[in-house]
Amino acid sequence: MSNADIGLIGLGTMGAALALNIADNGFDVAVWNRTTATTKEFHATAGDLAARITPTDTLEELVSALKSPRTIILMVPAGQAVDDQIAALRPLLNDDDMIIDAGNANFHDTNRRVKEAGKLAFLGIGVSGGEEGARFGPSIMGGGKRAYWDRVAHILTAISAKHKDAPCATWMGEEGAGHFVKAVHNGIEYADMQMIAEVYGIMRDGLGLDHGKIAETFAAWDKGPLRSYLIEISGKVAAATDPETDQPMLDVIVDAAGQKGTGRWTVIEAQHLAAPIPAIEAAVVARNLSSQKAARAAGEDLFGAAPRHLPHDMLSLDTLEQALIAGKILCYAQGFGMIAKASEAFGWSLPLPAIAEVWRAGCIIRSDMLDDMASALRDNADQNLMMAPKFANALKDTHGALRQVVAQAALHGLALPALSSGLAYFDAMRTARGTANMIQGQRDFFGAHGFARVDGGEGHHGPWGA
Ligand code: 6PG
Repeated sequence: MSNADIGLIGLGTMGAALALNIADNGFDVAVWNRTTATTKEFHATAGDLAARITPTDTLEELVSALKSPRTIILMVPAGQAVDDQIAALRPLLNDDDMIIDAGNANFHDTNRRVKEAGKLAFLGIGVSGGEEGARFGPSIMGGGKRAYWDRVAHILTAISAKHKDAPCATWMGEEGAGHFVKAVHNGIEYADMQMIAEVYGIMRDGLGLDHGKIAETFAAWDKGPLRSYLIEISGKVAAATDPETDQPMLDVIVDAAGQKGTGRWTVIEAQHLAAPIPAIEAAVVARNLSSQKAARAAGEDLFGAAPRHLPHDMLSLDTLEQALIAGKILCYAQGFGMIAKASEAFGWSLPLPAIAEVWRAGCIIRSDMLDDMASALRDNADQNLMMAPKFANALKDTHGALRQVVAQAALHGLALPALSSGLAYFDAMRTARGTANMIQGQRDFFGAHGFARVDGGEGHHGPWGA
């Protein structure tokens, strides 16, 4: 008794995988689940790792199975369940014990929980990598007091993914900083996935390629600059066949995407921060729109289906690859730009290069490009990534392809919300004199809001009359 290194509550898919990972790395872990049968089954099927796992039937048993000061990881659904679990644990814990919320919490909730925890140590950590990551090495973004992180860093770095031996587990900052960085990760995840889906749509509908060829194309791209987990799995998804019908798997999946809400939180927060992340916003909108399936079908009946098929040789697969490279750089530039804004607004000093580093392995958006992003941010953490020499050069080479793809798609009725908003962002960011002078003129006309003049001074008004 009282000798487990760490406790874990919540043996759902992610919690069970994380508990096995902890045991696999040589730590003794005590586990508890609301349903005792789940705890028993988990222990019974843990194989060799069972010896390092203590199943417990009650919270009291869990707490007394832990070394002091105790550390308990929560892997329960985000929201009220976390508050309920903390409330149930609190009377059983001492002040120097620690609770770690490792779910996908809204960082505002984590900010609050850190305050409510008082003397109890509380960390909010973002964990990315799905079930496989949780089992064999996730990317971990920590938030809360640095001293609390240091207390458990040996366990969290041991269980994390490694990029060339460097652990992908880093303290991001105070309060909800870890969950904030995880939310932006998920926003980027949504946009990266959406851009890939858009390019898939061009291959399927614009170029009329079959799923075998599409799978082959993603597999080929996974050997080049786009090499990433999401490109890799997209190729595998495209290659799969439905065992029931022998159809390509993608043909039997309904085209309506769900979401648990992390991408939405990112977009809402971006608006509060006035951080421009249009590609991420477009990706969230695209998911919402995808769910309006009946309305889309009614629209097709009313307006007729768009032609979608592109004239022969209009776009090559190389052009598509280049367009996706440009889109991806622009999407990540937006995500990192948002992190920089939040860092200032919340006084968190978020470590941008370290964030790129922690995303290089284990997480869903892991990619080779993130290694170059880490280097660029290490050289200059204050720059917009699209202006960093390496990415500026890549954009000079690829934005023409993005333009061609967006233009052809627009002419033939293929919707590319994320790629086209990426292009609009690029064009806006390379235009020194834009059109907001008209907005300012309008605002001053109807509301006397005042404007700055190009020849100096604020608060001027136009000669609009009474
Ligand atoms: C990760 C993922 C993960 C995500 C779920 C569901 O980093 O491992 O981002 O945390 O929350 O896969 O995401 P949606 O339901 O919002 O698509």
